[in-house]
Amino acid sequence: MAENHKLWGGRFEAGLEKWVEEFGASISFDQKMAKFDIQGSIAHVTMLGATGIIAQEEADTIKAGLEKLLAQYEEGQLVFDVSNEDIHMNIESLLTAEIGAVAGKLHTARSRNDQVATDMHLYLKSKLSEVIEKLANLRQSLVNLADRHVYTIMPGYTHVQHAQPISFGHHLMAYYSMFTRDSERFEFNVKHTDISPLGAAALAGTTFPIDRKMTAQLMGFAKPYSNSLDAVSDRDFILEFLANASILMMHMSRLCEEIINWCSHEYQFVTLSDTFSTGSSIMPQKKNPDMAELIRGKSGRVYGNLIGLLTVMKSLSLAYNKDLQEDKEGMFDTAETITVAIDILAGMINTMTVNDKHMAESTEKDFSNATELADYLASKGLPFREAHEIVGKLVLECTKAGYYLQDVSLERYQEISDLIEKDIYETLRSHTTVERRNSLGGTGFDQVKWQIALAKGELG
Ligand code: ARG
Repeated sequence: MAENHKLWGGRFEAGLEKWVEEFGASISFDQKMAKFDIQGSIAHVTMLGATGIIAQEEADTIKAGLEKLLAQYEEGQLVFDVSNEDIHMNIESLLTAEIGAVAGKLHTARSRNDQVATDMHLYLKSKLSEVIEKLANLRQSLVNLADRHVYTIMPGYTHVQHAQPISFGHHLMAYYSMFTRDSERFEFNVKHTDISPLGAAALAGTTFPIDRKMTAQLMGFAKPYSNSLDAVSDRDFILEFLANASILMMHMSRLCEEIINWCSHEYQFVTLSDTFSTGSSIMPQKKNPDMAELIRGKSGRVYGNLIGLLTVMKSLSLAYNKDLQEDKEGMFDTAETITVAIDILAGMINTMTVNDKHMAESTEKDFSNATELADYLASKGLPFREAHEIVGKLVLECTKAGYYLQDVSLERYQEISDLIEKDIYETLRSHTTVERRNSLGGTGFDQVKWQIALAKGELG
């Protein structure tokens, strides 16, 4: 049996077998936090020096060593070793190689339990600002397109059936609202991420006179956790991130589904740029909206990451348990998935062509103006229920005869109701029906312009 040379090896007579060691190690993935681990250690050692817990000279030597490691990391020169288990022990052993035994003083008044939590808070805080920034960009893309298409008419759907004509700009602004709420959720997520666990030590705090407010401030956190057990066991900030990311992916999947439909031969509402489309290896004519499909598909892995961590956390007693090492890959994967998906979706929106004529024409040969006829009668005093009945019967008559409400003769209209006059034809035009839906938040052009103006104010 191998001797035990681990940083924690003192009380062991034997070492782990290689395959067992590999099972327990996290360095293959937690090296993504190397920069944050070093940053946290720099804050910690600065505080150890300032409080006199270690000599200032020693603190300076350790800090200089850590800064050297950071520079080497940024140049891709740090080599990690699985026998050092995780990023924390890898950095400590690289530091020892760099500056000698004094490196051993860095871990005074600290545990890997508060260290790993600190790294995760730093990682997620930086990812959250990236996500919020990218979402602002996506929201801007939607506003830009909506601004160009206030007057573009499209069929509005319920049950995937033509319901009432709407402004394409209005449809896009619905997604703007969804992504704005997503952004607000991530902003709130920052509040629970912007807290420093450092100094909670293993679980109970420490006897050393540490200054947790100082380390929190040095790392740019708003404050330290107020309970040491909570500090090392809390993964709510990650769960919130995964939940927020799941809702975001759900929103993106809805828009992607619509884009996929709009690109089909049946709709032909939009044409994606070649730069965001792919072909088929067998069917030469194909132009597929693969990127939209892939975003829709990737919702699965993000939901999976949420359910995965919820399950890890369920029933987990306080404080640190090794189960918590399972919190990382799903968080990294989610952060990497959503940041690229947001960019791809924005890129698709920025470059797609809207076939506005075809979109508008598809509302001319349908019954999506039927509500308008019923409203016309109701506005002239007929109870809406009676108007609904009359129009319903007329739709049936038209369907049997093979024409639409705008094709019905004035004579026939006046037989049906003497309330109908020749302005009915103007009333039934899609453009008119959209224009007149001017209730607050409705699809009326003035309302869409109002929403766009609000959005522009929000985006600054
Ligand atoms: N690699 C560990 C993790 O990710 C670091 C904390 C280890 N702490 C411990 N007591 N084993 O959770």
